[in-house]
Amino acid sequence: MLVVTPQQKLLQRQLQPKDGTAGIERPKALLEALPEDPEPLLALASRHMVSSRQFDRATLIQLFRLAAQYESTPQLMHLPLTGKILISAFYEPSTRTRLSFESAWHRLGGAIMSITDPKSTGIAKGESLADIAEMFNNYGDVIVLRSSEDQAVYQMLDSLRIPIVNAGNGIDEHPTQALADLYTIAKWRPSLFRGNVDAGDRIRVGIIGVPSRMRTVRSLLLLLACFPEAIDEVVIVSNESEAFNEHQREELEQAGLRLRVVNELDPVLPELDVVYINAIAWVGDSFESMGSGLHLTRESPLKPGAIILHPLARGEELATDLDDTPHNWYFAQARGAVFVRMALLTSVVRRISAVMDTPEQ
Ligand code: CP
Repeated sequence: MLVVTPQQKLLQRQLQPKDGTAGIERPKALLEALPEDPEPLLALASRHMVSSRQFDRATLIQLFRLAAQYESTPQLMHLPLTGKILISAFYEPSTRTRLSFESAWHRLGGAIMSITDPKSTGIAKGESLADIAEMFNNYGDVIVLRSSEDQAVYQMLDSLRIPIVNAGNGIDEHPTQALADLYTIAKWRPSLFRGNVDAGDRIRVGIIGVPSRMRTVRSLLLLLACFPEAIDEVVIVSNESEAFNEHQREELEQAGLRLRVVNELDPVLPELDVVYINAIAWVGDSFESMGSGLHLTRESPLKPGAIILHPLARGEELATDLDDTPHNWYFAQARGAVFVRMALLTSVVRRISAVMDTPEQ
């Protein structure tokens, strides 16, 4: 009889393709739930996209609808960006944002010039961002910029005649990550985005992170504020005194979001439908010192049916033993980022008429 060793069994398991993760089968339901309207996407033509504040509910719904179309029927793509050039300028490390933007652009048929090290450009010789932006006008059709400096994207705006998309600027904003986050929620529960949500169907969202200092959290809250009727409450797990910047909380509450700040996670976990956890990487501040109580594991008291989102990269705050549970929607979130970025890029470079029925056709 042939003996199979434990090592051989492990290798067989590792070589087996994975079945996928929760949430990747859902774009069709979202597509069917939302009526098509090209107008909000036509209005994004040639616009710089730097902040979540630039989005309204109609635009978000149409971006998610087009993203769902791209995700559910990739064979129907007509390579609408053929002949267009993306300048992908990442002055700070990135796995997901750069590769998903570049994947999105490739899938749409465009060509890419990629900068992954600012020292390979004039920045190393002291060239200003305004002058670099002036040069970018000559070489591409749209720029995607990631920088650790809050002001970098704003320093380029005055010189630019081509649109720029903010792919994360310091601790300020990460609006396209927030699009990916909300697109995931839209696929999980399309009914939340149709308006007139019954009180009993509203969701409670938990955010483990500091809105005043985390770009992903800041941008996500601004997008959630476009759908206050779908959200019973947003529970922020953070140190109360540093949770919000001046005026940040007022802005969100004026838009209709109900906010509560708590400093312990486990007591609120059983109430949460969506749990958004961020990397806990703030060295030497109180959020890091709270960190030991901010871990999600298979043993955490999660509500049955709750989904976990994380912009990734993760640290110890999100245990890998959750990966093969139905709570794991964070991998679907990273996957969906490709399609929602495709929808945004198609809009910004004025190619909506190539993928939707529009009045001028
Ligand atoms: N979510 C996110 O911004 O990841 P990267 O830093 O890898 O781009």
